[in-house]
Amino acid sequence: MSFHPLILALETSCDETAVALCDGDGSILAAVLSSQIPEHQPYGGVVPELASRNHLTRIRPLIREALALAGVTLAEVDAFAATAGPGLASSLLIGNTTAKALALSFAKPFIAVNHLEGHLLSPFLGHAGGIQPGVALIVSGGHTLLLHLRGSGDYPLLGRTRDDAAGEAFDKVARMLGLPYPGGPEIDRAARSGDPRAFDFPRSMKDSGDFAFSFSGLKTSMFYLLPTLGETAAARLPDLCASFQEAVVDVLVSKTLAAARHLGAKHVSVSGGVSCNTRLRQVFTERCARAGLTLHLAAPAHSTDNAAMIAFAALHRFRASQFTPLDADIDPNLALGVTGART
Ligand code: KG4
Ligand code: ZN
Repeated sequence: MSFHPLILALETSCDETAVALCDGDGSILAAVLSSQIPEHQPYGGVVPELASRNHLTRIRPLIREALALAGVTLAEVDAFAATAGPGLASSLLIGNTTAKALALSFAKPFIAVNHLEGHLLSPFLGHAGGIQPGVALIVSGGHTLLLHLRGSGDYPLLGRTRDDAAGEAFDKVARMLGLPYPGGPEIDRAARSGDPRAFDFPRSMKDSGDFAFSFSGLKTSMFYLLPTLGETAAARLPDLCASFQEAVVDVLVSKTLAAARHLGAKHVSVSGGVSCNTRLRQVFTERCARAGLTLHLAAPAHSTDNAAMIAFAALHRFRASQFTPLDADIDPNLALGVTGART
């Protein structure tokens, strides 16, 4: 009988405090999360000092809750994992130090996880077929990356955003439109009753011939359009949201499919908070089917920040005996897929 490790993972890279337990076949035994959105909403974005203080008070009750849900004790855990970056330094430190302290006191290994690797592997969480090599798009609030997923730990970078991340563009445009933080889900909702062809927003770098992205021009274009609409802007909110969203989705899907063609890939995976977007999911589904590509979308609960994806990534590190020394530091700028980068 093979050994089935039990992994406890903590995620505190930004404004979600999350804890998950996963077993050796990748099954998530418990996943709990405390969102800080209501605390940060009045400021229109994440306030780092507030985020780290909230992580500190919430992490221990959440660990207890996860253990109770899974019906296990700390002594039964075989490895303690935590996100080591990228993210906010003061937030990363809470989960990272907690996991190291647990590893030290129970004499078990510690596994540092790259948050982006968590997102990258999340579409395969709970899939019997395991990780499928292909083209992987990560679209979150802080990152927009296109990678060649060749296997566990092997992710050459194809392209990334030159300026704003896709989620950042959603959040900034939502703010211009007077919508609350985080703006992505608000735009998604408002766009449902809008016409995606009402306004012609630029598709920056769609035909640039490489796999880089740029979203700041789109944001600027919204900034200059709004005053020209005057009093009618409020009534055009659904059309503005639908048209903006269509431009983002068009570029993301077109470039991902171009990368799949370029590499002769058969599988496409999409992860990160923006992969919750209804229109993005719909267009990816339609265009991958037409192109004969198998699409792997992260489940919505695994798209935005969560600890299940960190536990799943840690499990792959555990299987490869890739443990992390306790004196390893966090890295707020930890990269993924870049030659020479720690992953
Ligand atoms: O992955 P995530 O939770 O955090 C980061 O690692 O950045 O992503 C959060 C981002 C935010 O920018 C949020 O507005 C965006 O994901 N988001 C969405 C949707 N749900 C979340 N963007 C568009 N449509 C959505 N439905
Ligand atoms: Zn994230």
